[in-house]
Amino acid sequence: MSRDGFGSKLGIIAAAAGSAVGLGNIYRFPCELGNNGGGAFLLVYLLIVLGLGVPVMLSEFVIGRKTQKNPIGAFKMLKPKSGWPIIGYMGVGCALVIMAFYSTVAGWTLEYIVKAVGNQFKDKDLATIEQEFTAFHDIGWKNVLWQGIFIFLTAFVVFKGVADGIEKYSKVLMPLLVVILMVLAIRSVTLPGAGDGLTFLFKPDFSKITGSVLISALGQAFFSLSMGMGVLITYGSYIKKDDNMTTSALSVTLSDTLIAVLAGVVIFPAAFSFGVQPTAGMGLVFNTLPMIFNQMAGGYYFCIIFFVLLAVAALTSTISLLEVIVAYLVEEVHIKRRWATVIAAVACMAVGVFASLSLKSNTSLTIGGKSIFDSLDFVSSNILLPLGALFIVIFVGWIMGKSKFFEEITNGGQLKLSLKGVIYFIIKYLAPIAIMVIFISGFIK
Ligand code: PFF
Repeated sequence: MSRDGFGSKLGIIAAAAGSAVGLGNIYRFPCELGNNGGGAFLLVYLLIVLGLGVPVMLSEFVIGRKTQKNPIGAFKMLKPKSGWPIIGYMGVGCALVIMAFYSTVAGWTLEYIVKAVGNQFKDKDLATIEQEFTAFHDIGWKNVLWQGIFIFLTAFVVFKGVADGIEKYSKVLMPLLVVILMVLAIRSVTLPGAGDGLTFLFKPDFSKITGSVLISALGQAFFSLSMGMGVLITYGSYIKKDDNMTTSALSVTLSDTLIAVLAGVVIFPAAFSFGVQPTAGMGLVFNTLPMIFNQMAGGYYFCIIFFVLLAVAALTSTISLLEVIVAYLVEEVHIKRRWATVIAAVACMAVGVFASLSLKSNTSLTIGGKSIFDSLDFVSSNILLPLGALFIVIFVGWIMGKSKFFEEITNGGQLKLSLKGVIYFIIKYLAPIAIMVIFISGFIK
């Protein structure tokens, strides 16, 4: 029943790229790179994305399109009376966890749009911008309010199923985001002292590669590509039977990675130029960017447009997260789409409040010394997504088997794919081993 509620008419590239491109590229990627050794992280990240991105994404697409179901229903159908649907449940849980902290940051983009329109960054120095950002976190209700508005917007789109409109907007707005990032990159690399930022970003220091850098890169790759939790199974179920899923997976992977690297080229040269530490985490983006706009002709307008685009990019990602929960409630629990959307949104908000409030400076909302926000982020990206992806490739490689996989990716033999053997080999052997090795190395200190 919900099959045509959302996304049936979406071009899969637009939908999957909409899910992939978001705060993960522009906010989380620089944070992770800055905290994990710069160029060394970039190198590992690129190797993981190029090696595992397409095979894992294809595995999810195949499961989704073959079964035409949500992740839980899909595993139930392909392997009845087995434990495999647990992977689907894990994905739904993971969507909730990601939504909870992601919506916090998404809410900030709305606060920043308001600030940009009010020209509130004008002529301010870094110390003042940093101080205001910290002070903003201390106003708990404001963070929660923006978060609530963002979750409401997401629920509205998921409920209305105005995916068609979103697709049309995304097609124009996402290329525009790339253009603006390019303009910002040019401004950033021509700032005094920018060279150090480029060196930090592109020059790998191999001694920095540790187990925790590996797992952070793995987690970031899956997070950024929306892999390992069933978003792409759900979207795969909407892919048309004559689409070439392999080229779709390739385009999504490449464009997502390009945007992340571009964000790095914007952030790091400017951060080094203004004296923002590469380990500054969320401040890296939310404090450095206004500083760049202050140094640009037309910066006032660029600032507004940029944060609007960032909010839209975040929205197309939160839509995909909420859709996983909603599709599950509609198809497996048989709740009407309207109520499913309300329940999913309220659940995300209920957990999300704790994520937002845990960023106050005097917070007691911590788990094991980390804020709830950081804990949710860590658990989802560094544990749940790699585990989800691991089981998905094992399922496709070892349970579903070669002939069904080939049949699906070649659209029943109609497409000639010369690399299909290589892709299958990666799915069956290389990906599970790589994920396991990185995962285990991440926990050995
Ligand atoms: N890929 C999104 C981003 O980079 O912003 C975040 C995300 C969306 C992660 C959907 C996971 C997911 F299932």
